[in-house]
Amino acid sequence: PLVNKNKLALSGKKVIVTAGGTIERIDPVRYITNDSSGKMGFAIAKVAQEMGAEVQLIAANTSAEPPSGISLERVQSAEDMYQAVLKQWETSDLVVMAAAVADYRPREVAQTKIKKKDSVLTLELVKNVDILETLGRSKKHQFLIGFAAETGNLETYAIDKLERKNCDLLAANDVTVEGAGFGVDTNAVQIYDRSGMVEQIPVQSKEEVARKLLTLAAERMGGVLH
Ligand code: CTP
Ligand code: CA
Repeated sequence: PLVNKNKLALSGKKVIVTAGGTIERIDPVRYITNDSSGKMGFAIAKVAQEMGAEVQLIAANTSAEPPSGISLERVQSAEDMYQAVLKQWETSDLVVMAAAVADYRPREVAQTKIKKKDSVLTLELVKNVDILETLGRSKKHQFLIGFAAETGNLETYAIDKLERKNCDLLAANDVTVEGAGFGVDTNAVQIYDRSGMVEQIPVQSKEEVARKLLTLAAERMGGVLH
């Protein structure tokens, strides 16, 4: 076919990458978050750009340095992240949800600092929007990649999430495996599609994992050159 041999695997593609853990406010000085460092998402954004994509990075709370030269929008809550993703959704070709989006948020955000009173304080939490699931329901031309950090039963949970969220690929990792947990520069993932596991990536740098994941995606999106 008519292909330009100099074209990179993601040339001409617009890629949205979410990273980090969302922050769900309790009051002006307190919040709920999680252990996501943002490193996996940042590695994906960097590699996607190297592969020729136009990348929009949407990052919640992270301890890592974002890759330079990539358009970055900072967000706090799951709702903020959802709005930021929606703005780019129609025009994007690939969305990688590497962020650890909080499943719940406090029902009410106190406008002033909550004062210490009784021996027990009950916080009521309500479910957040599932960004990936919502995208999965409205996707047209877009290719969707989800992540799943699990503590066992990888295959069962991965396939269930992939189907429930209508993803094209899902990268699952067992956070109890050494080198595949939070905060480190390495990861080990199993990549699934609807038919089951398609690739097993042993412990290696997050950038190498990102390159393998994005190469699989590019092949399936069409236009990849060999
Ligand atoms: N995700 C999302 N919006 C949420 C929760 C999760 O978009 N409110 C995305 C994550 O970014 C990830 C995928 O869904 O790509 C799987 O997240 P995970 O937390 O593993 O799945 P859940 O469906 O929340 O299930 P659980 O936490 O109970 O395992
Ligand atoms: Ca979750």
